Order: sequence, then structure tokens, then C-alpha cells
Amino acid sequence: MVAATQRQGCALVTGASRGIGAAIAKGLAADGWAIGVNYRADADSAAATVDAIRESGGRAVAIGCDICDSDAPTRLLQSLDEGLGQAPLVLVNNAGIVQDALVPQLSDAAWDAVLDTNLSAAFRLTRAVLRAMMREKFGRIVNIASVVGGVGNQGQAAYAASKAGLIAFTKTVAIEVARVGITANAVVPGLIETDATTGVILPKIVETVPAARPGQPEDVAACVRFLASEQASYVTGSTVTVDGGLTSSL
Ligand code: NAI
Repeated sequence: MVAATQRQGCALVTGASRGIGAAIAKGLAADGWAIGVNYRADADSAAATVDAIRESGGRAVAIGCDICDSDAPTRLLQSLDEGLGQAPLVLVNNAGIVQDALVPQLSDAAWDAVLDTNLSAAFRLTRAVLRAMMREKFGRIVNIASVVGGVGNQGQAAYAASKAGLIAFTKTVAIEVARVGITANAVVPGLIETDATTGVILPKIVETVPAARPGQPEDVAACVRFLASEQASYVTGSTVTVDGGLTSSL
């Protein structure tokens, strides 16, 4: 599914210091994109992602920024311009958080934090990058959702709502900008081995996956690389599930 892109330009990946985001950043860099590696707090891990990209011959800058800050889009685009001299032609809204609680115990603060990080920040960033993409008549928005956005999950009302909203948002953006060469797609991971799922992916859960293994960040990155490529120009408004068959029988 991975396709090398001929397009030169810059890609911004949020939450790219570790996990799925870091794999996406490295994968897109291998396809020739210059990468803005956004991180919130872990500067060392972001620097390691940048170093790995540079050692492989790619271009990258680390950009520390909490995507929930109201001025985050402005700061991120300014840092990309200063560091790479470009506006992004690819935006990957990957940063995400989980705050688990059953609905009766779910606080306003937890609900707001999850919705703001996983959905509202993605909206604000997408809005900010579309202008430059429209000028170029090329753009790729890839939003990292979750299988939980389609089926729900006990204790994850806020997370599920945010990811379902992100999928609906993606489809709407796709419709609005399709005619100007911009695509918007959602990638829907299942159980992926990252720091966020340490201790969560137990053997009895893996047994429910038809592929009989948890996914790796690179499995998700492979999909994003394709969706960012020129070859994917007619793929828009899609949700591409990367779950080893987990939700196929639901
Ligand atoms: P992770 O927790 O390892 O990475 C998420 C990154 O986002 C972290 O580096 C974190 O610092 C960053 N982040 C969070 N809030 C931020 C903010 N306000 N500003 C900037 N950065 C922020 O998680 P993982 O597993 O790599 O997940 C990546 C994405 O994939 C998330 O959106 C997650 O919901 C989604 N996903 C993950 C699955 C899995 O099994 N690991 C399954 C389905 C979806």
C-alpha cells in the first residue's frame, strides 16, 4: 500500500515524539516529505525522532506546542515556515488522549480535555492549513481516529465521541475541498502497541484479533503514507481501518 510520492513539500504531524505519530513522521520523511515533528512536552523524544529522520537523509524540525492552545495553529505554521521554509501540504492530526471513566463518573474537565485534544484542535489546525493547500491546489489531511469511534467502548464515552466526531468532521472536510485537489481521510487503528497501550493489550484481548497479533505503529504509518501520496488523489472522505480484522465481524 505504501507509495513513494513525487510531490516535494512539508508535512506536519501532531504528537509525533513517540508511538504512532513518530512512525508516521519517519514514514512520510522516507517518502520525501520534510517533517514538522510536533510534541507537547517530551523534547528529548521529539529530538530523537528528528535525529532518526535526518540520519536517514530526510529533513525535519521539532516543534514544541500544545495543540490545545488557542494560538497553536499560528505558532505551528510560523515554526514550520522558520524551520523548513514552507506551509504544510500534509497535515496528520495524530495527537490524542484518553481519559477513561464510566459516564456517571466522567468529569466535565475530562470530557473537555478529550474533546478539545482529539477533535477541536484537529478542526482548528485543519482550518489553518487549508488556505495554503488551496493555493497549491494540493493537500492531504489525515486524521487518526479509532475503532472506538465506530463501535463505542465501556468507560470511553469522551474518547469514542471525540473519534466519532473526528470521522464525521473528516468526511465533511473531504466534501468541501475535493474539487481543489485536497483530500481528507480518517485512519482508524485497532489495537496498536505503543506506550499508550502498555498493559492494555493483554493476551486474551489479542485472541479476539483475527490477525492474531497487535498492530505496530508502522502498520498505521503505511496507510498514512499512501493517503499522503499523489497516487491517493481519488481517495477522499474514507475511513481506512487498520485493525487486523478486529471489527470486521461487528
Ligand atoms: P501516544 O500517547 O503514545 O501518543 C500520542 C501523542 O500525542 C503523545 O506524544 C502526546 O504527548 C501527544 N499529545 C497529546 N496531547 C497533545 C497536545 N495537547 N499537544 C501536542 N501533543 C499532544 O498514543 P498512540 O498510541 O501513539 O496514539 C496516537 C493516536 O492514535 C491517538 O490519536 C490515538 O487516539 C490513536 N489511536 C491509538 C490506538 C492504539 O492502540 N495505540 C488505537 C486507536 C487510535
